[in-house]
Amino acid sequence: MVNLSMHIIGTGAAVPKRVITNEDITKVGDTSDEWITSRTGIKERRMLSGEALQDLAKDAAREALDAANIAAADLDLIIVATFTPTNFTPNTACYLKSTMGAGKAVAFDINSACSGFAYSLWVAQSIMAVHGYKNALIIGADALSIVTNWDDRSTFVLFGDGAGAAVLCGEDEASRGEILASTVHNFDDEGHSLFVTGINNGTPFYKPGTSEKSIVTMDGKTVFRFATVVCVDIMRELAEKAKVTLDEVSYFVLHQANGRIIDHVAGKLKLPIERFFKNVDKYGNTSAASVPIALHQMMQECRPKTGELVMLAAFGGGLTAGGAVFRV
Ligand code: UT7
Repeated sequence: MVNLSMHIIGTGAAVPKRVITNEDITKVGDTSDEWITSRTGIKERRMLSGEALQDLAKDAAREALDAANIAAADLDLIIVATFTPTNFTPNTACYLKSTMGAGKAVAFDINSACSGFAYSLWVAQSIMAVHGYKNALIIGADALSIVTNWDDRSTFVLFGDGAGAAVLCGEDEASRGEILASTVHNFDDEGHSLFVTGINNGTPFYKPGTSEKSIVTMDGKTVFRFATVVCVDIMRELAEKAKVTLDEVSYFVLHQANGRIIDHVAGKLKLPIERFFKNVDKYGNTSAASVPIALHQMMQECRPKTGELVMLAAFGGGLTAGGAVFRV
């Protein structure tokens, strides 16, 4: 085991060009801009219309590598978190490795739904520590538009597509972005509350019914309750592990599932809402891409100063949750 400190040294993001507004969504089913805005804070989202998710992942990756001043050839590890890949095989990480010239990288995908970026960070840290790897690229990319149930208005208003990336550096001498703590958790008993069935094309001997289509089914209220509790727990756990207080954290970047979840968490912890970055109004819930896209935008727009603390927290299907805290 090599005992290195781990650093976030670059971020990037990419979203599809096509903007789908709440007005557009009202043409799909019985809903309204007023309902979507007041219940979720979402005004618009992006959806794939011709682009491949894996190319968005590549755009986000390039931006993160440029920001980190690292060449793809210097990457030791690529982990992509997604459950809606362009291809199951070669997986998205292999696609990035071959098309970006990351010749020596070990590359693989993971699936932890909306918590995927937090899981990829935790897994990357562990692998880097064991193998003494220097540079890793971690990506969250999802296109929930392709698994949306367009007959269920309680979910089709929520989702958008996109990709976000970060470069991790495992060098003691790196002076910025040190990760002070990270965590992941599973809550299997509540797995039924958020479900996307796998694909089943059928065989000459068995034809699946329509109920076996690969689409999202969600008990929104259960997931809402889970999210507000788990985010608070994770943020307290991260603060304790990192030996900092939540008051000392300058920016909180939570999974952008619903603006009201973020408001609840801020309220429960009695923290100023201004310290919680939000872009759910522009992108909706982009699943594994949500935290890294928000992180990238927060870094660009809020420009935290060297030494300031940033905390990430995610939750999603599984049910799963995870997060990290780092010093800019
Ligand atoms: O990343 C994965 C994690 N997922 C989440 O974090 C989602 C967490 N859950 C939520 O964000 C919320 O539960 C939703 C936004 C999904 C739903 O909000 P809600 O406040 O829990 O609404 P509800 O499902 O209890 O529905 C309230 C009412 C119902 O009507 P009645 O029975 O009160 O007359 C629904 O039929 O709103 C109705 N409704 C809608 N009306 C207009 C549900 N969806 C819609 C809609 N447009 N799209």
